[in-house]
Amino acid sequence: MRKNFGRKTIITPLPVLILATYDEHGTPNAMNAAWGGQYDSNEIFVSLAKHKTTDNLILKKAFTVSFATKDTVEESDYFGIESGHKTNKIEAVGFTAVRSEFVDAPVIEQYPLTLECTVKELQEDKTGYILIGEVVNMSADESILTDGQVDLSKLQPVCFDSASNTYRLITEIVADAFSCGKKYIQKP
Ligand SMILES: Cc1cc2nc3c(=O)[nH]c(=O)nc-3n(C[C@H](O)[C@H](O)[C@H](O)COP(=O)(O)O)c2cc1C
Repeated sequence: MRKNFGRKTIITPLPVLILATYDEHGTPNAMNAAWGGQYDSNEIFVSLAKHKTTDNLILKKAFTVSFATKDTVEESDYFGIESGHKTNKIEAVGFTAVRSEFVDAPVIEQYPLTLECTVKELQEDKTGYILIGEVVNMSADESILTDGQVDLSKLQPVCFDSASNTYRLITEIVADAFSCGKKYIQKP
């Protein structure tokens, strides 16, 4: 038996993206966004309502995206429930932001993995914007590398569980991609 829920939408896993931008005074801001993902090999997309962040995106045409982790989950949630219109959120949680070497946007040092992006498109729609960003650099703290490569077991990223409104860890590897289904490929 299956139960029908009507027009309820659960997509899982949803990422917990932290978008960081500068405003007209050079003050850094951070917001939490779960409705986003990879759009092309070096492009990302995020569905956005109107926020301080979207004002900053229009102004600077650049942003960074970091990934909320187990160690930064409380600060990351705060970035999603308070607006930069009201307060300097990065200062409020004691995080530090440094200017990206590549784009006009802040890199928040407490997030170990960051994509540095330019705004490729910011399309206005009925409810807000669709942001498409072009990744010009990815930077990672050495603490999350294994043999020089990003190691998600060390990063400990969290995802947003929209079924229960919670953050969950992404845990163990269960199989190899592009490979574990090969046994079903029909031989000619
Ligand atoms: C878990 C979570 C996910 C969120 N996802 C999005 C999202 O995908 N798009 C969006 O526009 N707002 C999203 N928000 C809400 C914004 O983060 C929130 O309105 C924030 O205050 C905007 O910050 P700003 O005004 O400083 O830019 C999310 C909030 C939380 C807590």
